[in-house]
Amino acid sequence: MPERSFILNGRRVTVDIEDSVRMLWVIRDVLGVTGPKYGCGINVCKACTSHVNGQAANICSVPLSKIGPDDEITTIEGLPGTVGKDLHPMQEAWLEHDVPQCGYCQPGQIMAAVDLVNKVRAEGREVPTDEDIDNNMRNVCRCGTYHRIRAAIKEGAANM
Ligand code: FES
Ligand code: FES
Repeated sequence: MPERSFILNGRRVTVDIEDSVRMLWVIRDVLGVTGPKYGCGINVCKACTSHVNGQAANICSVPLSKIGPDDEITTIEGLPGTVGKDLHPMQEAWLEHDVPQCGYCQPGQIMAAVDLVNKVRAEGREVPTDEDIDNNMRNVCRCGTYHRIRAAIKEGAANM
């Protein structure tokens, strides 16, 4: 069982577990970073959404074997550090719009929202449209906070 090393929230970490263990469990159970949530474990609900090398990924479905020493994983805990602030603008927008209800899906929602804005920016646009949000935000919220998520994404994008 070889040791594996990668960057988690800007810090190098090393683990010594089976290669088949998926990253959600590596990060939560072995490394104790619990922002990414377990919802389905089969790449559907997106409660586990984090960023792998700057792009959204459902880490419940990424085995440790796919992660190399140069790979960088960011969870909600590390998101503020990507902008050098206490909170990322998307988190501030979430607070402004009082988005969460139970809160369980919200780390994944925010990480997916930031990824969406990054994609829109890569296309030369500033703020996602309703259509962008409908086509890209697939994170399930059992509390039905979708209308507040939509408003917060637009405000967060405007401040990113
Ligand atoms: S827990 Fe990862 S997609 Fe549901
Ligand atoms: S806020 Fe409860 S699941 Fe989304």
